[in-house]
Amino acid sequence: MASLPRFLKKYLFAAFSSLYLFTVGFWSARHRVLLSQICEHFGLGKPKARIPKIGNWDLLKGSTSVTLCELGEWDGNVAINELAIISFLVSKNSPKKVFEIGTFDGRTTLNIANNCASDAKVFTLDLPRKDLTATGLKVEDGDKKFVNKDQIGQRSLSAENSKITQLYGDSATFDWTPYNNAIDFLFIDGSHSYDYVIKDSLTALKIVKDQGLILWHDYDNRFWPGLTTALNELYSTRPEFKGLRHIEGTSIVFLQHTRQ
Ligand SMILES: C[S@@+](CC[C@H](N)C(=O)[O-])C[C@H]1O[C@@H](n2cnc3c(N)ncnc32)[C@H](O)[C@@H]1O
Repeated sequence: MASLPRFLKKYLFAAFSSLYLFTVGFWSARHRVLLSQICEHFGLGKPKARIPKIGNWDLLKGSTSVTLCELGEWDGNVAINELAIISFLVSKNSPKKVFEIGTFDGRTTLNIANNCASDAKVFTLDLPRKDLTATGLKVEDGDKKFVNKDQIGQRSLSAENSKITQLYGDSATFDWTPYNNAIDFLFIDGSHSYDYVIKDSLTALKIVKDQGLILWHDYDNRFWPGLTTALNELYSTRPEFKGLRHIEGTSIVFLQHTRQ
């Protein structure tokens, strides 16, 4: 209740500012940006990429060696240059504990594991198709075809890599407590809706250690506008996400997490 007067003050300020914006304010280009953001927020048009870009040249310098396997790309896999960049970041940072949301056929899982140290652990979580009707948040239709598969992680399972542990469940309802403040590298490529991206990103803040890396896939992808809107919003409203950077020539966004 104590925060009601503060909220009321904000509400009235926003209401009068909107009145100004929709009458004379829109003559200013700066304010017209706000109009586009409102349209974007309510789902009109493709959201613009607003996270600052970082060039490959800056990110990939140095002589870190990378091994790649299972290069064949199926619908749902990351692009081959993205696979190389993810593997490079793993190899360079040498994480001891990695978590992946969205195992799919195990291609990214296996490449991550192959670029980790021999004592590293790679946990990978995927939603079994039998659980599709009982998820914590609504799964978008576009995601359902990737959930609906006979086997999860067949490429990594057939490689029998002992660093990998496959987990089954919904990222929105999964019990994350055993992973709190324990993960050095997190790759998020599960459900792509606005709500899931916000939920998975907030989970990331809890499970990733200070200075650990968080990667998201499919930013600025026309098929997943909710994901772009969610990351834009986190970038512009939450100080924990101010360091988000979009890797040029890819749909990968990354953050070096600083625990507050
Ligand atoms: C686009 S695929 C991941 C592709 C993988 N990164 C690669 O490049 O090989 C997305 C995966 O996330 C899984 N998924 C979707 N919603 C999920 C959820 N709520 N929790 C866990 N996994 C989910 C899907 O079953 C699917 O296998």
